[in-house]
Amino acid sequence: MSMPVETLSSPMIAADRLSIVRCASCGETLDDLTARATCPSCGGLLAVEHTAPGHTGARLRALFDDRLGPAAYRGPAAGRSGVWRFREIVLPGARDEDIVSHPEGNTPLMTRDAVASFAGVSDLWLKHEGHNPSASFKDRGMTAALTQARRIGALAVACASTGNTSASLAAYAAQAGIPAFVLVPEGRVSAGKLAQTLAYGAHMIRLRGDFDDCLELAREASEKLGIYLVNSLNPFRVEGQKTIVLELLQQLGWESPDWISLPAGNLGNTAAFGKALREAHALGLIDRVPRILSVQAAGAAPFAAGFADDFATRRRVRAETAATAIRIGDPASWDRAVEAIRFTNGHVVSVSDAEIFAAKRVIDGCGVGCEPASAASVAGVRALVEKGVIGRGERVVSVLTGHLLKDPDAALATRAGGGLGSDTALSRDEALSHLGRVIASPQTK
Ligand code: F0G
Repeated sequence: MSMPVETLSSPMIAADRLSIVRCASCGETLDDLTARATCPSCGGLLAVEHTAPGHTGARLRALFDDRLGPAAYRGPAAGRSGVWRFREIVLPGARDEDIVSHPEGNTPLMTRDAVASFAGVSDLWLKHEGHNPSASFKDRGMTAALTQARRIGALAVACASTGNTSASLAAYAAQAGIPAFVLVPEGRVSAGKLAQTLAYGAHMIRLRGDFDDCLELAREASEKLGIYLVNSLNPFRVEGQKTIVLELLQQLGWESPDWISLPAGNLGNTAAFGKALREAHALGLIDRVPRILSVQAAGAAPFAAGFADDFATRRRVRAETAATAIRIGDPASWDRAVEAIRFTNGHVVSVSDAEIFAAKRVIDGCGVGCEPASAASVAGVRALVEKGVIGRGERVVSVLTGHLLKDPDAALATRAGGGLGSDTALSRDEALSHLGRVIASPQTK
């Protein structure tokens, strides 16, 4: 019999296990090597709890900061990863040989005057998660989920996706050598994401239906066929995605910003941000909790509607938006996202597709670029500055969740930088005179 020890969120777990899994609805606890992605008793969402790391406060900050030294450039991938740098609070029980890492994370924090002035705040930072290996933030959750899949000996992995999760799953499953199955809504996934998913070798099924139909089927299939489900309702995905927040806090010298904004669809990331902030505060990594701003597309905004009535009821809608990554009407991580907004005194807002694309034009046009859904995080800041909820002098970090090339059609359609180009191919002489005309035009000067 092992002695019980205290975990981060207080309950006692056996000393020979570094983590346990607990159902947020009925409280059932499971071994951390469970193959279940949801509670076997009530179907509720599971959360992972870790044994408290040996240190807190300045000593824990120093442990994480020391790993940014020479080790960040040499040695095994896990040592160079912006996820596994925080392994004591991501998955402390994972052995080096279990870890499936590209590596990932270590994404830049940037400032651009044009975006700050568009948003209406002077101190705006862009955390660009499109700089991950498969070009979206999903890689941070996927390295944890595929590591877990390897730990439990999963025979196959599956997800439903609007495209980024499937691309990331395909990449990490290929590395782990585990067959991957993805369900995507027919006709609504951008070309870049489909190309990645197929090229990395996943088995892709296009379903007649939307994302919510795909997720329902993925849950049923994983239940019936014993395939390990790695959508963001899988609690280990959440553990990896927490590191977006941990890394940006570290990049800011552990000084909390006032706000962190992000686009919200299935609400896995909102939930992960809330858990990261709760733990960072409990462990003394930060002394002030930033407020989370979750931004939804107006045509897919059940969570924003819920926020407006203090989450009195859980809502679902039939989703429609050109920001296809967040075209989700029945978000799976609703309850834990509500907790994240409440804990951080956060806010939820919806913005129209026109507002999303206006933000995208500015982000693209200053040479940074992002996919449409990602631009919602900046559009949401602008909307809340106009309403007076965010002060013009407050520090805001907006998370850009995916790369511009994820959706080349949207980028071409918006012609963000105002680049005009010639629409047809020109001869050498025509090209020269075209250049002459453009150079001479007042627009160029
Ligand atoms: N931004 C991008 C680029 C996304 O791909 C997603 C979700 C989100 C934001 C929203 O995050 O769902 O955790 O609230 N994409 C999922 C997918 C649904 O299948 O790729 P969320």
